[in-house]
Formats: sequence, structure tokens, C-alpha cells
Amino acid sequence: MKKADIDWGSLGFGYMPVGKRYVADYKDGAWSEGYLTEDTNVVISECAGVLQYAQTCFEGLKAYTTSDGRTVTFRPDLNAARIKDSAERLRIPVFPEEKFMEAVDMVVKANEEFVPPFGSGATLYIRPVLFATGPVIGVKPAQEYQFRMFATPVGPYFKGGVKPLTIRVCDYDRAAPHGTGHIKAGLNYAMSLYAIDDAHEKGFDENMYLDAATRTNVEETGGANFLFITKDNKVVTPKSGTILPSITRRSLMVVAKEYLGLEVEEREVPLSEVSEMAEIGLCGTAAVISPVGRIFDHGKEICVPSGMDGMGPVTKKLYDTLTGIQMGVIEAPAGWIHEIK
Ligand code: PLP
Ligand code: COI
Repeated sequence: MKKADIDWGSLGFGYMPVGKRYVADYKDGAWSEGYLTEDTNVVISECAGVLQYAQTCFEGLKAYTTSDGRTVTFRPDLNAARIKDSAERLRIPVFPEEKFMEAVDMVVKANEEFVPPFGSGATLYIRPVLFATGPVIGVKPAQEYQFRMFATPVGPYFKGGVKPLTIRVCDYDRAAPHGTGHIKAGLNYAMSLYAIDDAHEKGFDENMYLDAATRTNVEETGGANFLFITKDNKVVTPKSGTILPSITRRSLMVVAKEYLGLEVEEREVPLSEVSEMAEIGLCGTAAVISPVGRIFDHGKEICVPSGMDGMGPVTKKLYDTLTGIQMGVIEAPAGWIHEIK
């Protein structure tokens, strides 16, 4: 497949409207057949549920070119399952998981020229989104919806690639107990925008959110889960009902245990324990694994022993193994790699 004429190495994490997208509409109690279109615009009622009451959720996954030239996606079945959970919590009709998988195949196939070449440092980011198009004025679920899946080539989420990040403990909360922190609702991101702009203005790359109930345990950032490496090489990740169940994090815990022979723990991580950690990383589809070098906690600075020059050794091994699996260099566990034919 001939690739598009794009300077892949200079891409950041941004939207480039390219190629074709998949669209299906929900009306009269049923999803229409999905189709591909080049139209990047959506025309909806001024009173659409998405505009009035933020009735929307989304996903994020990537397509890769492997070392032997195949086009693959990574665990798309888990995105299909997670958007189902998100939809149910937001009273959006579920987009069937098998249709979601079909849409992934159709979108990646139709946009194959935009799947960056192996070794370019870029990937094709796929953004499925479900939103209420039908009008509502009383607070209730809409009657009509759209499912859309578009793709855009991206580079690293954080400027500077693998340069360790400086983050701060955030005074704003991301998710309430029994709220929507565990699903990928647009509203979770809307309410984090003030906090992320404020962090950037003050010179921080990201926010470390704490649990809203006690403000003692680490939750996640605005767009990634945390991984901690203890001084005795255990891989620890926060257990919480109010964080997004990251597919990258769940995969990395398997990689740590099965590929690297490390001990893994999913448990509460008190903020007071963070200064004891040897390495800290943020993980997610967009973030992959991004190392954290410094954390500011209200005037107190925690310098992570792995430093500000690059990834710590365990983080690096996790990164190399995961990306090796995604790019077909290392054999994947059964079912993790979905080839686009
Ligand atoms: N946490 C939040 C809040 C996110 O938005 C994301 C991104 O999807 C993640 C974690 C990482 O999840 P995943 O690894 O499934 O992309
Ligand atoms: C992803 O990693 O796919 C996300 O949706 C996170 C977002 C901050 C870009």
C-alpha cells in the first residue's frame, strides 16, 4: 500500500481531517446500516442532547504498520466493550460490539494510506464517538443518536516524546464516587479543561487527580492511568472504581507479569507513598507510556529517582515490549492483535 505524502516524524497529537469515516444513525429504536463518507461535518438540531446535556461518549484506539508490513489494531474488542459500558451508563443505545469491530475494519482499510509506516514514530489514531442528535429540552435521554468513527494520523501525545513529564497534584477533582469516572464520557473531559489549562499556565504538563472522597489516594491524570515501579521492581497501579479501566494499563500488567517476570499489584496507592517509588509512568493509547520525572505537591517537590533525562529501566522495558507487540516485533498474547485484511 502506497502511503500518503506526510512528514510522519513531525506529527504531534492533533486532528488532521483525512480520508473516510464511518457513520451510523439511531432512529425509531434501531441503528441504521453503517456507511463510509468523506463528509467531516455533522448537522444536528440546536436542541440535540449532546449540545444541551453532554450526552456523548467516545473511544480511542490505534492502527499500526507492523515490521512485516501488515496493518493491525490493538485489542479493539476491548474498546467495543468499553463503549458499550459507557453508553449504558449515559442512557445511549448500545452500538453493537460486532458492528463496532466491522467499523474498525472498514475505517482502517479505507484509510490505509494514512496508517503511518513502521518505524516512523507515528500511528493512526481512531476515534469512535457516540452522541445524541435528537432534540431534548427536559432532562432526559434523546431519541436519536449518531455513531461515528474517524481516523487521524498522530505523533506523540506529549511534546518532546519520551522526555519525562512534570506534573502537579491537582486541587480539582475529576470524578465523584458513584459518578462517571469509570466510563469514557465527554463530560469527564469537559470538566478537566479548566484544570489542565491552569496546570499548563503554571508550567506543569499534567494533573495528578486524587480520589474525591478522601483526597489521599492517587487516581489518574486527565487522559492516562498511572503505573508505579517500586524500589524492589514491583509494578503497582491504582485500584479505584472512579478511574477509566485503561486497556493499555491492563495490557501492561500482563506484559509485566508474563513477559518480564515482574510482580504486579493493583491496589490503592496513597499519595504519601509516591515519593518512595523508583519510576512513574502515565499509560494510555495516546500516552503509550510517558515517564514522569517530577511531581509538585503544593510547594513540595518529589523528584522521581529515574530523573529528568529519560525513562527508567523498567518503564523502558515495558514500553519496548508493549510497542514491540503492537508493531509485530514481539509475539502477542492470543487475541491481542487484530489484523486488517
Ligand atoms: N484514563 C483516561 C482518563 C483516559 O482518557 C484514557 C484514554 O483513553 C486512559 C486512561 C487510557 O486508556 P486506554 O489505555 O484504554 O487508552
Ligand atoms: C486516548 O488515549 O485514546 C484518549 O482518549 C486520551 C485522550 C486524552 C486523548
